[in-house]
This record gives sequence, structure tokens and C-alpha cells, in this order.
Amino acid sequence: MTALDGLSLGFSTTPLVITSIPELPLMAPADGEEPLNEHVEAYRFTKIVHETVYDSVSPLNPNNSAVGKVVVVTGGGKGIGKAVASAFALSGATGVVLLGRDKAALEASREEIQSPGVKVLCYAADITVPDQVRAVFKAALDIFGHIDVLINNAGYLSAAKDFDQISIEDYWESFEVNVKGGIVVTLEYVKTAQPGSTIVNMSSAAAHVSFYQGYSSYSSSKLAFWRIMEFVQHECPQMRTFNLNPGTCLTDMTRKSGFPTQTDLGK
Ligand SMILES: NC(=O)c1ccc[n+]([C@@H]2O[C@H](COP(=O)([O-])OP(=O)(O)OC[C@H]3O[C@@H](n4cnc5c(N)ncnc54)[C@H](OP(=O)(O)O)[C@@H]3O)[C@@H](O)[C@H]2O)c1
Repeated sequence: MTALDGLSLGFSTTPLVITSIPELPLMAPADGEEPLNEHVEAYRFTKIVHETVYDSVSPLNPNNSAVGKVVVVTGGGKGIGKAVASAFALSGATGVVLLGRDKAALEASREEIQSPGVKVLCYAADITVPDQVRAVFKAALDIFGHIDVLINNAGYLSAAKDFDQISIEDYWESFEVNVKGGIVVTLEYVKTAQPGSTIVNMSSAAAHVSFYQGYSSYSSSKLAFWRIMEFVQHECPQMRTFNLNPGTCLTDMTRKSGFPTQTDLGK
């Protein structure tokens, strides 16, 4: 047997034939619920879709107190990131650190979510640039001495275009922000990690539903980072690592895309 014979053992000569793309089963609306639009319906993974805050997840519920905790939220100036940062401020976090590129949005978010006893800081940084991210983590550690939670939320949604229509630049931007950016931030956070340090990745159902036309770049980049988080979970067992599907919310990202949504988060 030659070396090449050995190598050939690793390959199958049978062509891979994909006969059908499995469809995610749609769930019927729960009793008394209005039917949701088809897109939202296809993306629901739970029996009940909540559009308002309820007691067990309320930041005002003492069981959810974040007193003593410091949280870094990437993309904390807008949309879901701002809402998450606001919830941490309401639940009494010691420090909330907002990171993004748009200084004015970060400042406005900081003003809006100020809460007594909570120090809210904001830093303009691009998550795809390691030096900028490192500087933010250093500043946060110098001030607070620890970071307990990272919300890996900053993300990019490319234009909704079929594969043969989208530019490579726009296609790859999803990977720059959603994959490289996420890795850069997570690597920096992992260096600071203590037992119990927590990462929440704002993932998307788009990573898992079988097919949604025009979202090849977004879906595949979200799936890639979901997998990376699984490795972080296993390889950094001192940390608690979560992938979260936030549902569909009307934000700048979905406004740009015309993506049908369920909850309007404003700016
Ligand atoms: N809205 C939905 O229905 C939905 C559904 C599933 C998942 N998600 C996920 O939720 C997360 C937040 O999205 P959103 O809907 O709230 O959108 P959004 O309002 O457009 O927010 C995106 C955030 O990402 C930040 N960002 C983008 N590129 C960045 C970069 N290179 N460096 C630093 N920050 C960057 C933006 O901040 P700057 O502009 O200041 O840089 C902005 O704050 C994303 O990961 C998205 O994929 C959203």
C-alpha cells in the first residue's frame, strides 16, 4: 500500500446528494394568542412567545438582582444591547460597560439607562480590532477589578440578497463582525475569567432554521459563532457559556433588512 492509497481511504467516491431540506415544524399559536406572521411563526422554539417582561425574568425581581456584578455589553448603544444593558442597570449591577462604534448612540444609551448606584461607562471601539477591544477590557478592569458577565451582542446583518447577487464585501462583513468580532471579544474576556464568569452570545434562530432566502451570510456566520461558543463552553469549563435566541425584534438591523419582526425595541 502506498501513502496515497492510505490517503484515499479517507474519502468517499459516492457523490453527496441532498434530496430535500427539512422544514422546521411550525408551532400553532397557544390558546388565546393572536396568530403571528409566517416568519415569526417559523422561528419560534417555545410554546409561548412573550412580548413583555414577566415576573420571573423581571430585572426588578429580587431573585434576579445583579448587585455586585459588572457586565460588558457589546453593541450596548442600540437595540437589543441597549435593552439588555438597561435590564442590568435596573437589577442593580455595580457596573455596566457599553461598547460600540457609534459614540453618540453609546452616550445616549448611557444617559437613558442611568440608575442610582450603578456606574455606566461607554467606550467607542470596533470589536473586529483587537487593540481597541483590549483597551476597553483594561479600562473596565482598572475601574472595577472584575468583569462578571459578557454579553456578546454586537452583530451585523448583510443585505437580504440571493447568493449570486450579494457582494463579497457585504457577505464577508457578517463574518468579520459576527465571527471575528465575537472571537476577539471572547478571547479578551477569557483572559479575565474567574470561576462563574458568564458569557451570553446573542445568537439567532437564523443559525438553525433550514432556509430563509437571502440570509446565507448572516445565518452561516451566526451558526459558526454558535459552534465556537460550544467549544468555549467545553474548553473553558470554569465559565458559564450560553447561546441565546432573542426572538425577532424591530431594531436598526431588522429595519434595514425588512426582516419581519415581532417586538419593536425602538432605537
Ligand atoms: N433584532 C432581531 O430580531 C434579532 C434576532 C436574532 C438575533 N439578533 C442579534 O442581536 C444582536 C443585536 O442586534 P440588534 O437587532 O439589536 O441590532 P442593532 O440595533 O443594529 O444593533 C447592532 C449593534 O452591533 C453593534 N456593532 C455592529 N458592528 C460592530 C463593530 N464592528 N464593533 C462594535 N459594535 C458593533 C452596533 O453598534 P455601533 O453601530 O455603535 O457600532 C449596534 O449597537 C445581533 O447580534 C443580532 O444578530 C437580533
